[in-house]
Amino acid sequence: MKQIIIGDIKITNPILLAPMEGITDIPFRLLCKEYGADIVYTEFAASEALIRYVPQTLKKIKIDDKERPVAIQIFGSSPESMLKSAQIVEQSGADIIDINYGCWVKKVVNNNSGSALMKFPDLMAEITNKCVNAVRVPVTIKTRLGWDFDSINIFDIAKRQQEAGAKVITVHCRTRSQKITGNADWSYIPEIKKNITIPLILNGDINSAELCLSAMNIEGADGIMIGRSSIGNPFIFKQGKELINTGSYSQPTIKDKIECCIKHLELNLEIKGKHGLIEFRKHYSGYLKGMYNSSEYRQKLVRTENIDEIKNILNDQQQTYKELEKYIGKNYSKRTRVLNLALNSAKNTKDKSYLPQIENFLNDLDENVKLNAKSVYEFLSGK
Ligand SMILES: Cc1cc2nc3c(=O)[nH]c(=O)nc-3n(C[C@H](O)[C@H](O)[C@H](O)COP(=O)(O)O)c2cc1C
Repeated sequence: MKQIIIGDIKITNPILLAPMEGITDIPFRLLCKEYGADIVYTEFAASEALIRYVPQTLKKIKIDDKERPVAIQIFGSSPESMLKSAQIVEQSGADIIDINYGCWVKKVVNNNSGSALMKFPDLMAEITNKCVNAVRVPVTIKTRLGWDFDSINIFDIAKRQQEAGAKVITVHCRTRSQKITGNADWSYIPEIKKNITIPLILNGDINSAELCLSAMNIEGADGIMIGRSSIGNPFIFKQGKELINTGSYSQPTIKDKIECCIKHLELNLEIKGKHGLIEFRKHYSGYLKGMYNSSEYRQKLVRTENIDEIKNILNDQQQTYKELEKYIGKNYSKRTRVLNLALNSAKNTKDKSYLPQIENFLNDLDENVKLNAKSVYEFLSGK
């Protein structure tokens, strides 16, 4: 069993929601919290904008009491601006202040912020130390393995950050030069942990319940953090927890997915008003991923600003699957494959060449389930 303690926050087998610009706003954080994320992180906020009280940036550090514990993330390269923005963020109600030392994006690193600071460990330590001394809440950091493979310095950085007062270190197990390509290399984690006593969080490429379990089991990892795989799929927190705590987990049904999408959409509308509906468009592909004709549905969804119409389109997608359940067995992953194949073939009802393939897939399913390829085909082709 793994455990982290950050100030008053104590969590067993922690699974955290990663900070993601343009994604981890209040609605998404509330949703992930509901599905089991133990700590949620805001998008990063530029310290230079915070100290100038730029309204767009102040919006990013707003939080809702229901999402606690929440970490607000800041970035910048000036110790003075970082100190002041840490104080602003503390006043905004952050439970944790997280400093971004991992962002690879050009406009950030060109200002010597984000992962560029890994090239300046003294300045990095000074920034953390100034922030730690300026606020009462815990200050944590998120970083990478190093600037590139020739300059992997996370071992030294981790030690110096602990000395500077950081209370947790999260490592996205890539170098800056990798950006988001290649694979995250978790094998660095045990060695990093040898240099620190504070909690170490593993981040990078955790995209299934199985990988939640494997990552949590990595020696030296005190917890894990998930980013991209939570987009359109907050179920991953629940599944990861279930697998870690009980040894098994369940898959969301199409109904669960559509309901979750609608809930997320409604939160957006409630918190951001009509603008929230438009902003939400980037999330449809995540929720519809792997479903029948998802791009066509997405096209329909992004063409309307009417919430009832949007719900109708989403429910129509769900209804199609429900009808087909009469013919299809319970095995989820196989069922989805069959459905997609069958539904795609039905797009052109004149084309019967798919029928044997559908039959093969259906025959491959659970013997107990009486499957009728022909009725699926007939249903689909409207005969
Ligand atoms: C769209 C997007 C926005 C991101 N924004 C931030 C950010 O604001 N702060 C940060 O520390 N990392 C940011 N990241 C990096 C993630 O927090 C995370 O480290 C990375 O995606 C690797 O984890 P994953 O494989 O679970 O996605 C972002 C990643 C993505 C995909």
